[in-house]
Amino acid sequence: MTKILAIETSCDETAAAVVEDGCSVHSNVIATQIDLHRRFGGVFPEVASRQHVLAIAPVIAQALAEADVSVQTLDAIAVTQGPGLAGSLLVGVNAAKGLAFAAGLPLLAVNHLEGHIYSNWLDAPGRAHGRPPDAFPVLVLIVSGGHTELIEMRGHGRYRRLGGTLDDAAGEAFDKVARLLALGFPGGPAIQQTAARGDPAAFDLPRALRHDPSHRFDFSFSGLKTATLNLTKRLAAQGQDLHDPHLLADLAASFQQAVADVLVDKTVDAALATGAQQVCICGGVSANQTLRATATARLEALSIPLYIPPLVYCTDNAAMIGAAAFYNWRTHPSQEDGLAMDVHASLPLVEEV
Ligand code: KG4
Ligand code: ZN
Repeated sequence: MTKILAIETSCDETAAAVVEDGCSVHSNVIATQIDLHRRFGGVFPEVASRQHVLAIAPVIAQALAEADVSVQTLDAIAVTQGPGLAGSLLVGVNAAKGLAFAAGLPLLAVNHLEGHIYSNWLDAPGRAHGRPPDAFPVLVLIVSGGHTELIEMRGHGRYRRLGGTLDDAAGEAFDKVARLLALGFPGGPAIQQTAARGDPAAFDLPRALRHDPSHRFDFSFSGLKTATLNLTKRLAAQGQDLHDPHLLADLAASFQQAVADVLVDKTVDAALATGAQQVCICGGVSANQTLRATATARLEALSIPLYIPPLVYCTDNAAMIGAAAFYNWRTHPSQEDGLAMDVHASLPLVEEV
């Protein structure tokens, strides 16, 4: 039994969790800053790091209390090292260093993207006890506010990047288009809610790089954002009311379907090209119901198992960091990132050559 306290502060959630053996979640505390950033229409880095400073100690204390453990009974402390906002990452990393030093515990640095990948195998109500992949390769689509990546996972900790976005991340596109349509922040949930009553075929928005062989596994979302902007200008010029709930619903649904189509198309193509034994979709945008439904339908038709985390593990959390830390540590038992460990705002997954 390996119990890890994991800490995550890469963006705008201050999170701590106690996870056993990479799957059993004893506590998962998330203090979100969404309300603080809403007035800025996006995450304000300075505000984020100050809020992490205020929240980190109580969040860790709550995670330990809910799991009914003391620091001394843990096996290790894990923390997100990057990628993310440097000022935010620093708060979590310094808290983790302090705890590890005081308790004499190993300190395990975790890549945030690897955390999202391992969020797929966390225990959740209604799911079997932690299901780490038993058959590789696994084709992973990471879709978050900062990343859109297709990765072939050949084993625990063994990654090959197939492609990714050339410009905006999918979550960023949701956030920018939501701002454009004045739907609020964060954009993903706002667009999903508005789109619920809309027709996804109302407007024909571009599916960029869909049939571009030189960018077979790459994405581009900035053109979709511009196309949506141009469409709203055209509709306004025609005298249409951009505050009309039916029009907004159609715009949001058409945009959402365009994103989901291109994400799922390329994921399916990559799964077939790599002979994937299963597909995993993770990151904040994997909470999107249209993406979940589109991916489920396509992969079911091909009889390829699909894993998407339950909603609570789609967006940033520390349980996923504890899961990734466990598998990394099991593969490399000598791993211990000392107190000299630093944060990295940009930190790609280590790839196999
Ligand atoms: O993984 P995450 O919590 O943070 C990053 O690592 O970036 O992802 C946040 C992103 C935001 O862009 C947010 O708008 C998007 O995930 N998101 C969604 C939904 N929920 C969150 N996008 C589409 N549909 C959703 N339901
Ligand atoms: Zn994330």
